[in-house]
Amino acid sequence: MTKANSINGKKVLNSAVTVWFAIAVLGQWIFALYVLLFYAKAMATGHSENWNKALPNGYVTGDTLGNVVVGIHLLLAIIIIVGGPLQITPKVREYAPTFHRWNGRIYITIAFIMSVTGLYMVWVRGSIGGIVQHISISINAILIMIAATLTIKYAMDRNFKTHRIWAIRLFLLVNGVWFFRVGFFFWLTLHQRPVGFDPITFEGPFLSFLSFSQYIIPLTLFELYLKAKKSSSKKFIYITAMLIFLLTVIMGIGIFAASIGIWFPRMNY
Ligand code: HEM
Repeated sequence: MTKANSINGKKVLNSAVTVWFAIAVLGQWIFALYVLLFYAKAMATGHSENWNKALPNGYVTGDTLGNVVVGIHLLLAIIIIVGGPLQITPKVREYAPTFHRWNGRIYITIAFIMSVTGLYMVWVRGSIGGIVQHISISINAILIMIAATLTIKYAMDRNFKTHRIWAIRLFLLVNGVWFFRVGFFFWLTLHQRPVGFDPITFEGPFLSFLSFSQYIIPLTLFELYLKAKKSSSKKFIYITAMLIFLLTVIMGIGIFAASIGIWFPRMNY
């Protein structure tokens, strides 16, 4: 392959990632706004029982500890969802290094708290979905804690190249629950009815698949992207860029459908 071809390929790859990131941030921040205007507002106005309009086991009268755990999980979700994109944007890191360090420490701490509170909600409190989904989200929690540990370790070792790679893996893992919702709404839009799962029990082959895909697909694409960045194969670079574009289209449809379907309407409850 000629050098010009390779440069064109890398440009396409970079555009694919930039467009993916811009749309993902938009969708994640709409999700954060929903958590603020629905869950946090209910808490602030003394109506935490309103959580149950969205979470079947959200607020349980008499279970103070469980309610506090869910409250912490929901409030910290806002900070981690808003802070993630700011943390991995190179320009922010470059121009505001002190912000990067503090936001990073907060991000890592919250990532641990989200994982531990999430595990409590799944295994002690009980949540919707079946055992397969409970296992897959628990693996997600363990992977978040591993990635958070490695991100901070490489920063302390001053190995910033590896630190950045782990920070992006952590960002993708933290957004697993968001990818699940976006993937779910894409699927509903595609079929216009529940397919591959039972809408009452919220179990079924499609949801089992999605609960693992929520982190396996983003992580796999990121590894492909890292390989493509170094590759001199035009074909490989273009295939990777096309896969990222395809995921962006799926994600865009999912974000639109989830926003219209639940996030915006629930902001007015
Ligand atoms: C670290 C990133 C995470 C974020 C940002 C996050 C955010 C959220 C949000 C916003 C909700 C409310 C759901 C909605 O209205 O759509 C929620 C619910 C929930 N989360 Fe998390 N979460 C994270 C990780 C986890 C993990 C790792 C687990 C499990 C190990 C978990 C378990 C749960 C459970 C059980 C619910 C209630 C779902 C239900 O039963 O309906 N979360 N989370």
